[in-house]
Amino acid sequence: MSPRALDYESLNENVKRAQYAVRGELYLRASELQKEGKKIIFTNVGNPHALGQKPLTFPRQVVALCQAPFLLDDPNVGLLFPADAIAKAKHYLSLTTGGLGAYSDSRGLPGVRKEVAEFIERRDGYPSDPELIYLTDGASKGVMQILNTVIRGEGDGVLVPVPQYPLYSAAISLFGGSLVPYFLEETENWGLDVNNLRQSVAEARFKGITVRAMVIINPGNPTGQCLSEANLREILKYCNQENLVLLGDEVYQQNIYQDERPFISAKKVLMDMGPPISKELQLVSFHTVSKGYWGECGQRGGYFEMTNIPPKTVDEIYKVASISLSPNVPAQIFMGLMVNPPKPGDISYDQFVRESKGIIESLRRRARIMTDGFNSCRNVVCNFTEGAMYSFPQIRLPPRAIEAAKRAGKVPDVFYCLKLLEATGISTVPGSGFGQKEGVFHLRTTILPAEEEMPEIMNSYKKFNDEFMEQYEDHRGYSRM
Ligand SMILES: Cc1ncc(COP(=O)(O)O)c(C=O)c1O
Repeated sequence: MSPRALDYESLNENVKRAQYAVRGELYLRASELQKEGKKIIFTNVGNPHALGQKPLTFPRQVVALCQAPFLLDDPNVGLLFPADAIAKAKHYLSLTTGGLGAYSDSRGLPGVRKEVAEFIERRDGYPSDPELIYLTDGASKGVMQILNTVIRGEGDGVLVPVPQYPLYSAAISLFGGSLVPYFLEETENWGLDVNNLRQSVAEARFKGITVRAMVIINPGNPTGQCLSEANLREILKYCNQENLVLLGDEVYQQNIYQDERPFISAKKVLMDMGPPISKELQLVSFHTVSKGYWGECGQRGGYFEMTNIPPKTVDEIYKVASISLSPNVPAQIFMGLMVNPPKPGDISYDQFVRESKGIIESLRRRARIMTDGFNSCRNVVCNFTEGAMYSFPQIRLPPRAIEAAKRAGKVPDVFYCLKLLEATGISTVPGSGFGQKEGVFHLRTTILPAEEEMPEIMNSYKKFNDEFMEQYEDHRGYSRM
């Protein structure tokens, strides 16, 4: 009998081809160990609340009232909720057509899209059009919608930074396109060299691939770098010359841990450059409620803004969004609150600032503790986490460790991370899951574990690494930088 449609051997090959390392072998083994009763520190996903980060009070109050609107009619509501949260809940309910239980327009609630546009305008100093902003179930859904629209087949390529966030490789595989890698320079604090881009594009074209889009992740995941304004200009110019649509993944824009390179959006740099490029270059920028001091990953709220995208294309993207009817409505309200938080003078303002500052300042300290911790370990080199939520140290493995990994049938960094997991309960993602240069090994960990647990985690890592390096000590040296 021929296989049925959902038998494994007859599945869509694109589905089977897609890899997703963040929930890969390491994660599965960690889950098994957890079931066996071992304490596991999950540092594999940038999921702040799962690692103990408390939700901000004000947005939860507002959404709680929107979810339970009968509370608004309760005479005691003012005892439990501050007046500004009550007013905000009424405001957002008035933007819906039937509360949180009703579908919204497939592009999101017009009132929230307007708030997003106002936020972008304040942030960048240039107008933003709500008609060109679509709300999505997290940034991932938006990225997938746009990649699906761009990729016509195997011959279409998308430039993706390597090391990269596996959403991109997985989605490009799923839509049947070709990933065109460009390497970030580890020795330049993971900077982006436009010459590497040129080389990658030339190689892809030589293979017959039409390169159509370029992804930047700023601040970077897994690499934690912030792109400078000069670098962004070069990238924009390059995309315009080569006729590439630029996908600006800016989900970590609130997560900045140094003052030298503040976050600058690709849209602002593009507008600063003026015409003709500001009127020509096609740009789609993504943001989310999952990151920053919000960390509301489970709510699944995001948006994308389209710049210089022709109206007929905007309509096609609307049509595709309509197939899923509506993005999550509660998440849209989180997005509205994120882009329009309490203002000075509001009752909840001081608390909101205290909570959000507390989170970012602690993350800034944690970024430092982790980088310094890794750099104090034998055969480990780590760039400072300028932004985002990750540390991405290079592990210089002795040849004996690489040979032992081969004998065990494992990629060397997977071997190292599995040993780390078994010895300490720290669950990381091997660098090979993000792509890396040949013969170079990394791991990725989030900087999210609680600050007070950080010294112990780093001590336990150091102890493991010392023992590992001792065990595989080799007069031939170690893997290259
Ligand atoms: C670079 C990058 N883009 C997008 C996402 C997805 O975010 P969301 O939760 O909004 O789908 C993540 C999540 O970790 C990310 O790291």
